[in-house]
Amino acid sequence: MGFDPHWLSLREPADGKARDQGLLLQAKEAIEKRSGSVVLDIGCGSGSTYRSLQPHLTEKTRWRLLDNDRILLDEVRDRHGSAVETVEMDLGDVDALPLQDVVLVTASALFDLCSADFIDRVSHRLGAAGIGLYAALNYDGEMAWTDEHPLDRTMTAVFNAHQQSDKGFGISLGPDAWRVLAEAMRAQGCTVSIAESPWILADKDTDLQLLLLNGIAGAVQEYGQLEPEDVISWYAYRQDSAREKRGLCRIGHRDLVAVF
Ligand SMILES: C[S@@+](CC[C@H](N)C(=O)[O-])C[C@H]1O[C@@H](n2cnc3c(N)ncnc32)[C@H](O)[C@@H]1O
Repeated sequence: MGFDPHWLSLREPADGKARDQGLLLQAKEAIEKRSGSVVLDIGCGSGSTYRSLQPHLTEKTRWRLLDNDRILLDEVRDRHGSAVETVEMDLGDVDALPLQDVVLVTASALFDLCSADFIDRVSHRLGAAGIGLYAALNYDGEMAWTDEHPLDRTMTAVFNAHQQSDKGFGISLGPDAWRVLAEAMRAQGCTVSIAESPWILADKDTDLQLLLLNGIAGAVQEYGQLEPEDVISWYAYRQDSAREKRGLCRIGHRDLVAVF
C-alpha cells in the first residue's frame, strides 16, 4: 500500500501544530543525553519527523530515515541530500532494523497501522538494545465536528472498525495501538509518557479536510456496514461544511515517549 506524497505534505503542517511540545522536548533530551547520536526514524515518509525534531537538536545529531517506499525516500534525498542517511527496508523484518549507534527510534503516524505482533517484536528489539522510542501522532479513534451531523458517531465507529484491518503488518490495532505500544514499552522497563496531540482543523485546512473526508467515506463504503446512500449524504454534508468553513474538526492522536 503506497502513501500519497500529496496527503503526507498536506498533513505535515497539521501534524506539526498537533505534536505535543513537552514530549518533543523529552525526545530531544533523550537524544542529547547520550553521545554518538543517531536517530532512526521508521516509516519516515518524506521526513516529517526529521523536519519537526531536528530544529531542536544540535547539528551533531545524525539521522537515519527508513521506509519501504522508494518514491518517498527519493523525496527525502531531494529535500535533504546528504544531511540524512536513507534506508529502504521493510519494517516487517524487525531483526534487521539498523540500530547501530542509534540512541532513539522515532516514528509518526505509523503505529496505528501496525499489529500487536509487530509492536511486540519492535518493543522486544528496542528493549534488548536499551533504545527508547518517540512515537507521535497515533490516531486514537476520536473524530468530532462542531457543525454536527447525525451520522458523525456512526461513521466514526465504522471507520475505526475499518482501521483494524491489514495495512501491511498483519491486522492493525488502529485506535488501540498507542495503548498496546505503551504497555509493551513499559514491560521492557521504560518510563512512558503519553500526551494528546489532536488535529484541530479550521478554515485554512479545507484541502486536508476534503482529502480526509474522502478517505473516511471510502473506508466506510468499503466496510459495507452502512447504507451506501447514508454514507453519500454524510460525505456531501461534511464536504459542504468544510468548503463553507462552518466549524472545527477534531481528530484525536496520542504522542508517546518511552525512555530507559
Ligand atoms: C502514514 S505514513 C507516515 C509517514 C511519516 N512518518 C509522516 O508522519 O509523514 C506511514 C509510513 O510508513 C511507511 N510504511 C508502511 N509500511 C511499511 C513497511 N512495511 N516498511 C517500511 N515502511 C512502511 C509508509 O511508506 C509511509 O511512509
